[in-house]
Amino acid sequence: MKFFVDTADVAEIKLLAASGLLDGVTTNPSLVAKSGRAMHDVIAEICAIVPGPVSAEVAATDYDGMLHEARILRAIAKNVTVKVPLTPDGLRACRHLTNDGAMVNVTLCFSAAQALLAAKAGASFVSPFVGRLDDIGESGMALIADIMTIFRQYPYLKTEVLVASVRHPMHVVEAAKLGAHVATVPPAILRQLFNHPLTDKGLAAFLADWAKAGLKIA
Ligand code: G3P
Repeated sequence: MKFFVDTADVAEIKLLAASGLLDGVTTNPSLVAKSGRAMHDVIAEICAIVPGPVSAEVAATDYDGMLHEARILRAIAKNVTVKVPLTPDGLRACRHLTNDGAMVNVTLCFSAAQALLAAKAGASFVSPFVGRLDDIGESGMALIADIMTIFRQYPYLKTEVLVASVRHPMHVVEAAKLGAHVATVPPAILRQLFNHPLTDKGLAAFLADWAKAGLKIA
């Protein structure tokens, strides 16, 4: 499974990139607004830190506007992935952009039917928002299971399922058990993946025994 971080906070991205575990970054208009920085500057800096796919979302909702903004975004760096909403104009733009060699992440996916359309439009990634479905009492993981079942029936589909709107580590684990290709995870939840109290307890015990024995390696 590939791990992307879901943020436009450059300081957080730098810290996580140093772990060697980061395969890409996703942003969205809300995350970029939260950064307080100009879109071009923050995306350019992120692309320089993380060589993998960096999703930058168009703000236009019409086909021509999306293509115009996509041209600007793609010119920032070669690893920019243009993010478009799962709408008729968004999928039409996705088709055009993928035919033109762009990486495209189709976002705001909430049904298996939508995911199938994104795959037919040639999307590099489709982003089902599991947390927002859970938030309204539906099952985000059931959607991932349905999408993975459908995509497995058609090996020629190249679209990767990028599980988004992740709320806790179990979303990552359950998505991995279903074979999802990517999880994009907020920084705090990515850090939670490392943690287990028995790891901390066991390490402390090892170090205490080592110190007590007065042992050294070098
Ligand atoms: O950035 C895409 C998605 O991960 C955002 O989901 O629900 O955390 O706003 P959410």
